[in-house]
Amino acid sequence: MKIKVAPSILSADFSSLGKEIKKVELAGADIIHIDVMDGHFVPNITIGAVVVKSIRKVTKLPLDVHLMIENPGKFIDDFVAAGSDMITVHIEAMSSAKLKAQSAKLKKQGIKFGISLNPATPLSKIKNILNFVDFVLVMSVNPGFSGQKFKFEVLSKIRELRSIFNGDIAVDGGINDEIAKKAVFAGADILVAASCIFNSNDYKKTIRRLKNVR
Ligand code: DX5
Ligand code: ZN
Repeated sequence: MKIKVAPSILSADFSSLGKEIKKVELAGADIIHIDVMDGHFVPNITIGAVVVKSIRKVTKLPLDVHLMIENPGKFIDDFVAAGSDMITVHIEAMSSAKLKAQSAKLKKQGIKFGISLNPATPLSKIKNILNFVDFVLVMSVNPGFSGQKFKFEVLSKIRELRSIFNGDIAVDGGINDEIAKKAVFAGADILVAASCIFNSNDYKKTIRRLKNVR
């Protein structure tokens, strides 16, 4: 599987968000990762559908909306209407029955559906939902903030997941090129990265390095 890089805008300069997105697009990004937080599911508040709608106007890249919110089902329609291409929901925030229903609905709308799990959540929690999702987003930090340290214990989770799942496996949190290599070797093919891209002075070189870790 080809490695895809998904810059997470959480570490971008929000006063020039449009320009930052254009910059990572020109630098070779494959997906724009948008972290939506509500101050309840995670201890931080970020952005809502209105921002996704604006981002939609400045890029053709797929927008992956990572919902770190309570009651995500209530808001998915808004994020789809705003122009999301991929919706990621946490297993800790939605029941399997609701996830299955949501999956069917998004499929009809042509939206890719992903399930995410926190570092402490075992793989067994998502096994019965794997047939209903296009990708899995494995959290390698506790969600809430960019700039945290990668939790190496998730590597074995990625390895096990790769042995039972054929879709894309994204890894999110604490990625740099050294760690990306380990994550890709374990079976990940989408690298979500905020600080390592937006804090670098050459987005193109950083994204190229991430794509070439294999
Ligand atoms: C964390 C978010 C991540 C975060 C990654 O809750 O889901 O997408 O922005 O940031 P870095 O790459 O700096 O760890
Ligand atoms: Zn994220």
